[in-house]
Amino acid sequence: MARVAYVNRRFLPLPAARVHIEDRGFQFADGVYEVIPVQEGRLIEEAGHMDRLGRSLHELRMPWPTTRRVMALVMRELVRRNRLREGIIYLQVTRGSSPRDFRFPPDPAPTLVITARSQVLGPQRLVEDGVGVITIPDIRWKRRDIKSVSLLPQVLGKQRAAEAGAYEAWMVDEDGFVTEGTSSNAWIVNREGVLVTRQANHMILRGVTRQAVLRLLAEEGRGLEERPFTVDEAYQAREAFLTSSSNYVMPVTRIDDRSVGNGKPGSLVLKLRDLYVAYATGRTS
Ligand code: PDD
Repeated sequence: MARVAYVNRRFLPLPAARVHIEDRGFQFADGVYEVIPVQEGRLIEEAGHMDRLGRSLHELRMPWPTTRRVMALVMRELVRRNRLREGIIYLQVTRGSSPRDFRFPPDPAPTLVITARSQVLGPQRLVEDGVGVITIPDIRWKRRDIKSVSLLPQVLGKQRAAEAGAYEAWMVDEDGFVTEGTSSNAWIVNREGVLVTRQANHMILRGVTRQAVLRLLAEEGRGLEERPFTVDEAYQAREAFLTSSSNYVMPVTRIDDRSVGNGKPGSLVLKLRDLYVAYATGRTS
């Protein structure tokens, strides 16, 4: 079936969907985005994603391209037109197109692009063995809380991971602490059994999945420490996992060339994954 995209107020077949060559997203990466998971035709955590979009726009002094209500309708229409059951909505807003000039355009007309893609979320086939990550230096700018389309360090990091036969790269700050994955948040259960994930400030993206998992943990009465952890602490961890919209909760069983724990997904990560899948699908079994 031909895919349908939405570009600046129009639904178009994907091959006909275009933005201008002087779009500031293309020239300066002057834009922000969201990836919203869709399960059984329903958007998961829509409000959390749209709140974060609003925050990213605000931090970069960009106007909303249209109202939240219109975006909600467009996303549903894309799910319908693309007959999407399971997959992602990709939504990007840029500061629009204008003759190349670093300064903001005097009368901004933001570009809004929304696409829908079918894909398996949090693939079960990866869960049995868990995935491997490598560690790499975090070479990003200092406002990682903004979901900007300026993703070169992540592109290079993910490629390095792929070439090393790993699924993800965990980025490490100048003091030796893991910040996050190139497109996911990083968690460990350390040697003492303490669940640790980095606190969400300017140094990492406040993952919507991360926030949902924190709520599930609170409901379960499971404590955790929100603080940075070193690569060494991760090497010695009993369990490790990553969270993101497209991975849900994914066990990490190798970090660089070391096994995590006994090399199999741990019990807490599997439990959290079950809880999250039940929450996302609305099924409780
Ligand atoms: N990535 N950290 C980074 C750097 C990310 O890019 C992402 C999301 C996350 C997890 O956030 P969330 O739980 O809201 O998906 C953490 C998306 C999925 C992407 O770029 O494709």
